[in-house]
Amino acid sequence: MPEKRVVVLTGAGVSAESGIKTFRDSGGLWEDYDIMDVATPEAWERNQELVLDFYNQRRKQLYEVEPNDAHYALVDLEKDFDVQIITQNVDDLHERAGSSNVMHLHGELKKVRSSVDERLVYDLDGWELKPGDRCEKGAQLRPHIVWFGEPVDMIPAAAELSNSADIYVIIGTSLNVYPAAGLVSYVRPGTPIYLIDPGELSVGHIPGLTFIREKAGTGTKKLVSELKKDHT
Ligand code: OAD
Repeated sequence: MPEKRVVVLTGAGVSAESGIKTFRDSGGLWEDYDIMDVATPEAWERNQELVLDFYNQRRKQLYEVEPNDAHYALVDLEKDFDVQIITQNVDDLHERAGSSNVMHLHGELKKVRSSVDERLVYDLDGWELKPGDRCEKGAQLRPHIVWFGEPVDMIPAAAELSNSADIYVIIGTSLNVYPAAGLVSYVRPGTPIYLIDPGELSVGHIPGLTFIREKAGTGTKKLVSELKKDHT
């Protein structure tokens, strides 16, 4: 029998227990920074040093943290299912835990790209991208991040994956940011959907939804063991 496909949409909450701040919780990143100052093309035009510094701090921290139980539980799930992860996160904790299939919707912190040719993407050595660091065309390198106001090129592929799910799992996202938050509408009718998040999300009516109000670590471990039990 072909393996069932579990498609997992993750957000900042899956990495919270690793010590990475979420964006919109109390104490989240968007309390300390204004999105418009650090995560838009206009911010980049206005003040490259501030934008570089913001992402340098995020990247530096990424080298200091480790994947948590939620990331590892999703790796364990691969023993019995075809697991496809769609993440809004720019960290690499799913990959470092060992997940095989990870699609990044909003870019990747450890990569940088040309500010004049988005096809020129490079792995950055270390945590710091500096003013004056240039691509092969001589232009300043920028973080490989999808900023607010920029198109999310991976959405068609993510929608197709969502549509192919036999089981859909959403972990640690406020479902505030579109188009990512709209992916659930591509899930086929009748597909079981699980949402793991300890917060007070108002997700509206999603048919087939089971809301597991727990932190990612415990919630994901429990769900994975249930899915495995049902499978055998
Ligand atoms: P948010 O900060 O909007 O939402 C984080 C979610 O994680 C909330 O629903 C929390 O309740 C939940 N959460 C907090 N701690 C948790 C834990 N221990 N376990 C599980 N869940 C927990 O983050 P995202 O929804 O990921 O985009 O934000 C989406 C996008 O907005 C991000 O990709 C980023 C941001 O601005 C860009 O920067 C382009």
